[in-house]
Amino acid sequence: MGLSALPIRGLIGGLLFIALSSVALAAEMQVKKFDADRKLQGDCVGCHINVTPGIVKQHLGSPHANASNPEDEVLCSNCHGDKHVTMEDWQEATMPTADTCGECHKKQAREHSKGKHQLGWMVMKSQIAWHGQPGAITEQGYRGCSGCHKIGKKGLLGVTDGNNDAKVAYDGGKEEAHYRYGNAQCDACHTRHSFKKSEAKDPRACSNCHMGFDHPQWEMYTSAKHGVIWGIEGHEEDARAPTCQTCHLMEGDHEVRTPWGFLGLRIPTKENVLALIQVAPTLEPQLTKLAAALPSGNYVDLDDDPTWTLDRALILQAAGVLDADFQPTERFVEIVLQAEAARGPEEFNELRTKMKTNCNKCHSQGFVESHMKASDEILKAADHEFAKAIAAVQGLYRDGILKVPEGWKYAPDLLQYYDAKTKIEQELYLIMLEYRQRTFQGAFHASNDYMHWYGWAPLKTAVNTILEEEKRMRAEHAAVKVSSNAAAAKKH
Ligand code: HEC
Ligand code: HEC
Ligand code: HEC
Ligand code: HEC
Ligand code: HEC
Ligand code: HEC
Ligand code: HEC
Ligand code: HEC
Repeated sequence: MGLSALPIRGLIGGLLFIALSSVALAAEMQVKKFDADRKLQGDCVGCHINVTPGIVKQHLGSPHANASNPEDEVLCSNCHGDKHVTMEDWQEATMPTADTCGECHKKQAREHSKGKHQLGWMVMKSQIAWHGQPGAITEQGYRGCSGCHKIGKKGLLGVTDGNNDAKVAYDGGKEEAHYRYGNAQCDACHTRHSFKKSEAKDPRACSNCHMGFDHPQWEMYTSAKHGVIWGIEGHEEDARAPTCQTCHLMEGDHEVRTPWGFLGLRIPTKENVLALIQVAPTLEPQLTKLAAALPSGNYVDLDDDPTWTLDRALILQAAGVLDADFQPTERFVEIVLQAEAARGPEEFNELRTKMKTNCNKCHSQGFVESHMKASDEILKAADHEFAKAIAAVQGLYRDGILKVPEGWKYAPDLLQYYDAKTKIEQELYLIMLEYRQRTFQGAFHASNDYMHWYGWAPLKTAVNTILEEEKRMRAEHAAVKVSSNAAAAKKH
């Protein structure tokens, strides 16, 4: 053994001792923290059993209080912090966000944040109509729009907030801080304080939001064979009928997103728009310019043809997403790109294929393909009717029979919803948000009554009413013109 080895050995021993004792110290501190945490938990529960007994009961019965590994027990303070401990300082309690849940449930939080639910708040604010309503209707207390759309993350910034990038930005928590309640997102399906998986797996968990006027998926599901069988036979693990979750959160994947999306719109392809020039040669310069900005490719199942592309272009125009020259507007950036309300061919095809493979667990490929194609055909037929009605109203503006209302950038503007000023535009709004929605959503969900009697039938009625009203307005306008010309002639 060399002389110089001794001090080194001593040094190593010393270091080892320090290391070991700091491990011991850390372990000791952990035990202390554990004890302190449990004591604090005792305080929260001890007081809240009188203050809010329901919450304590739910928490104590939840998987959080009964984790399979007792060391993982989740405490009130894990979600609400440890600052509030008296009867008076309850304002000091913090309210959890999806990020709080995400600290322990990384996979679900990551998936959720990539899906459409994450964008729910932002997409609501992208609507011009939302900004026209009083706060009590749209924002405060989570009644109306905000009550359902709080499933989205607050503070995502789009064009309306001055962000013109193709991607949404985040304000770092400013908007969340503005709202004391309603930032948790995950509790849309796993409600507090039970936070159960079984609740979220039941299709009724979706039904408070996915129902009613413009997206009656609950009503459509329960009136289609899938939902009927679910109702009769219940919902065990190996159930014969699929639930919303079987089709939309496949294998528990929290990234919800469908090919057509809520509005049944997709981005026209370069090829589709160029083919349109053959049908509408006068539009060549505009269409060539538009095509340059669009993705290339084909859609699976039912691809676009020139008529459909033109019909959809008119719809996009009436929504202010394309301007009068068919060029993308700031709404295209905000609604289509930032809020991801419409998909291009690559994403559409990928989502559609995944969905069909899922159906194949119970149905043949041929059966599924024919269902999807038939449903695409129905959307195409609905678009054609809708486009006729839009063209009629656009004509009234072009010919000066309708005047652009003050403050409107686009006219007609479907996104003004029920704030449309004339009867004919009220009908147009109903086609967009009620009848056309029910037609195609009913088709995909195999609800015959929704597809036809709540969808297609009133859609046709509304189109006929609009075409009649257009004739009447034109005749009235011509009569007024004739009589004012006659009056002017008399004066001279
Ligand atoms: C000494 C009693 C007491 C203790 C201890 C206590 N709380 Fe409270 N807490 C209250 C009272 C009182 C309220 C207000 C209730 C009300 O508004 O009805 C409250 C409210 C809350 C709220 C709701 C705040 C809001 O803005 O609505 C949360 C969350 C909360 N407590 C969590 C906790 C947690 C977590 C602990 C333990 C770290 C804890 N409490 C300990 C008495 C207590
Ligand atoms: C401190 C870590 C932690 C936080 C924060 C947390 N959880 Fe949990 N969660 C757990 C643990 C631990 C379990 C139980 C796992 C087990 O039993 O093994 C669990 C279980 C669950 C389950 C499955 C329940 C079941 O029925 O099987 C759901 C759903 C859930 N949590 C949702 C949430 C939500 C929503 C939030 C936010 C509001 C949240 N969790 C916050 C740790 C956490
Ligand atoms: C897994 C996370 C989690 C745990 C654990 C948890 N909470 Fe909550 N708590 C929430 C969420 C989410 C909300 C709703 C927040 C919102 O609206 O923004 C909430 C809201 C509350 C509220 C106010 C809302 C209401 O309904 O009155 C009280 C009070 C409260 N919690 C008390 C408690 C107490 C007491 C405990 C422990 C016994 C506890 N919480 C444990 C997540 C949790
Ligand atoms: C749209 C409804 C919905 C929302 C929103 C939602 N979940 Fe879930 N979650 C589900 C469903 C459905 C399941 C059951 C998946 C399965 O096993 O098939 C589930 C399962 C879970 C589980 C249990 C996983 C397991 O297999 O044990 C956890 C944990 C969880 N979710 C956490 C979260 C968190 C965290 C958030 C927010 C970031 C969230 N969930 C938001 C519907 C939802
Ligand atoms: C058998 C599978 C299946 C079930 C069950 C199912 N859906 Fe769907 N869902 C679909 C298909 C297919 C589409 C259209 C896909 C496309 O765009 O190509 C769709 C579309 C959607 C959309 C987008 C808009 C629309 O309606 O076209 C939402 C939202 C939705 N479903 C929610 C739900 C909810 C909520 C439930 C339960 C009440 C449910 N779905 C039940 C298959 C299903
Ligand atoms: C708190 C209300 C709420 C609940 C509960 C809810 N959703 Fe949603 N969901 C929304 C909103 C709002 C949107 C629109 C968000 C967007 O497009 O950015 C949406 C969008 C969707 C989409 C995307 C449609 C598209 O554009 O492609 C699907 C699929 C969906 N939800 C399925 C479900 C299923 C399945 C459940 C139940 C397990 C459920 N949701 C529960 C509010 C809810
Ligand atoms: C009953 C709950 C509910 C109410 C109230 C509600 N929404 Fe929605 N909204 C939803 C659901 C669920 C979806 C997704 C439906 C689908 O994809 O078929 C949605 C979708 C949307 C979308 C389309 C998102 C996309 O990416 O395509 C917009 C925009 C929107 N809502 C705005 C609003 C505005 C603005 C209001 C109020 C004037 C409002 N919503 C009121 C539940 C609601
Ligand atoms: C878990 C199994 C399962 C899955 C997954 C499933 N289905 Fe079904 N489906 C059924 C059963 C069972 C029936 C009832 C069969 C009958 O009518 O004899 C049915 C019936 C149907 C019907 C006929 C409805 C009617 O009113 O006659 C259509 C259309 C349909 N499914 C389409 C689909 C599509 C599209 C998908 C995927 C998006 C799908 N199914 C996924 C089990 C499933």
